[in-house]
Amino acid sequence: MPPVLEPQNPQNKNNRVGEARPASPTFLEQRMTRRTFLRKLVSGMALAEGTALLATLYPLFLEPHWLDVSRVRIPIPGLPSDMEGLRVVQFSDVHLGPYMYAPFLRWVVRAIMAQSPDLILFTGDMVTRDTDADAGMARLLRGLRARLGVWGVLGNHDHWANPEVVHAFIEQHTPIRVLRNEHVPIRVGTHTLYLVGVDDAWVGADNPERAFSGVPEEAIRIVMMHEPDAVEWLPMTARTLQLSGHSHGGQIRLPLIGPPILPYLARKYDAGLYRIGHGWLYTNRGLGMISPPIRFNCRPEVTLFIFTRGAG
Ligand SMILES: [Fe+2]
Repeated sequence: MPPVLEPQNPQNKNNRVGEARPASPTFLEQRMTRRTFLRKLVSGMALAEGTALLATLYPLFLEPHWLDVSRVRIPIPGLPSDMEGLRVVQFSDVHLGPYMYAPFLRWVVRAIMAQSPDLILFTGDMVTRDTDADAGMARLLRGLRARLGVWGVLGNHDHWANPEVVHAFIEQHTPIRVLRNEHVPIRVGTHTLYLVGVDDAWVGADNPERAFSGVPEEAIRIVMMHEPDAVEWLPMTARTLQLSGHSHGGQIRLPLIGPPILPYLARKYDAGLYRIGHGWLYTNRGLGMISPPIRFNCRPEVTLFIFTRGAG
């Protein structure tokens, strides 16, 4: 009589007639399994430690020295052909001191000169708090040259140190000419561009009336003022570009949250390009740092502006 077979589920591979059950793992196989587990555990721990180490090192040592060169087109209504394509480079917040390094500053100078600037502008905070800043480091900025000049203003830290001493220090060791509540007309071909330097607003050294006195209303104007939020106190026209720094971008910019900490007078316009009335404001994230000396998602920056004719 033929053997009676029990019904089978064809999907169940463990239910084949005549197939032997898998044998229990031998002692050797069990050891191998434990060894594999331990190896995976150690690999996982090493990966976690490596990630934690990178997360610590990146904002401390990598991002603070990873320069970003931003390029921004500025449309100006009725821009004369002489100024079309004008190249203006801004740098800000050098903060000479323990957190600024010569190789990085050399890199910055090379990066600025690689933009073929017509005009180079510095928007304040050459030092952090000391008046005995490293002159040798400042002299690295002597590599900056532009046919329309290298100009700048002081920032709140320069004032907290000593405005007269820092002003003299900048002009002695760097090619930057400092404007304090004054302006200079700059001839570009057959037209004139007005460069206005407003002194620091945080310490109350700003005097916009004096700085703008004599600047034609319809003129093309570049305004340097350290604190960006003070833009609301200044006369803004469709042919005005204000350049500011001060915020450092917050130094830490958390995804979806933004910067947890911003300084006074940089809480509204903390980074990038803004439309103010019919004019423009740009807030540069700066080069240096204040304590804690970290940057995250907020790379140090120099900015190239290219002037174009536009509706404004
Ligand atoms: Fe600063």
